[in-house]
Amino acid sequence: MTAADFVAALPKTELHVHLEGTLEPEDLVRFAARNGVELPWRSPDEVRAAYSYTGLDEFLRLYYLGCTVLHTRADFHELTAAYLRRAAADGVRRAEMFVSPQSFLGRVAVADVLGGVLDAIADARTDLGVDGAVLVIAQRHRTEAEALELLDAVAPWQDSLLGVGLGGAELGNPPSRFARFFADARRRGYRLTCHAGEEGPAGYVREALDCGVERIDHGIAAADDPALVARLRDEGVPLTMCPLSNLRLRVVDDLAGYPIMALHDAGVVVSVNSDDPPYFGGYVADNHRALAEHLGLSTAQLAALARSGFRASFAPADEIAAGVAAVEDHEARAAGSQPNVADAP
Ligand code: HPA
Ligand code: ZN
Repeated sequence: MTAADFVAALPKTELHVHLEGTLEPEDLVRFAARNGVELPWRSPDEVRAAYSYTGLDEFLRLYYLGCTVLHTRADFHELTAAYLRRAAADGVRRAEMFVSPQSFLGRVAVADVLGGVLDAIADARTDLGVDGAVLVIAQRHRTEAEALELLDAVAPWQDSLLGVGLGGAELGNPPSRFARFFADARRRGYRLTCHAGEEGPAGYVREALDCGVERIDHGIAAADDPALVARLRDEGVPLTMCPLSNLRLRVVDDLAGYPIMALHDAGVVVSVNSDDPPYFGGYVADNHRALAEHLGLSTAQLAALARSGFRASFAPADEIAAGVAAVEDHEARAAGSQPNVADAP
């Protein structure tokens, strides 16, 4: 069995995906036409051709422009349903998805954003067997006061929300600037994540940990800092890593030296994720396959990463155990079907 075949049916998690960033170019153009939004592109191919970036800020400009085509509760329902269908086809069992109502302030009511997303998650649970959940993220290039307002704005849906995170333009906007936001979110009972150490330094990852964050989104900068790696391991704080995103945003020059297995072997819980799949050229299985190819991963290593994904999730303990067992079943079946080559990359 090839690594690519092994990845296809490998039970997976997706813990770092921005719903707004799952808009396929065809849907971007279709939503724009439907909602009367003028875009600088006429066709999906023109959109795709524009998806080339020098870094996070340039990507975010295109991403926020993409957000302007989403107007109604039905749009958010369609967007989320389409993503969850693709995730299910990709072998995703548990999807913890970000959405950022601040992208739509003044244009779309929070009730329409979250209503559409939550309805689609409920549908996918019964129709597709995907266990979906949503985390609301604040944008760090806005003020902490606005982030605190966001917590008030989403309060009516709190029982349906998994957690809270922080995204957006990282450099110059350290997690410590949002210490009160994280403290308030924690007091309200949310699970906490924070984008840190994507373009920013290892110090931002430390600050996120000091803010009580339970999971770091990206965190690749930590790989060069042995004391921080030890802290992540000792505190059991997972990293949601996004190889194709890091490649396309030039966080890394290539995937040959991607530090995910080094972090895993050092005892950090690491997971493989897609971030904004159409913008970065791949869904979660594509990210696993890219790692398999460029790092020469064995099926045993791919299975270890998939198990880490379930362990890094905020799912209830029995669901995590079921996910880990499903990965082990898949590994055993693959080994049983072709005992001599199951470990070949
Ligand atoms: N980093 C920060 N903010 C984001 C990202 C990201 O990778 N994707 C969407 N919003
Ligand atoms: Zn992200």
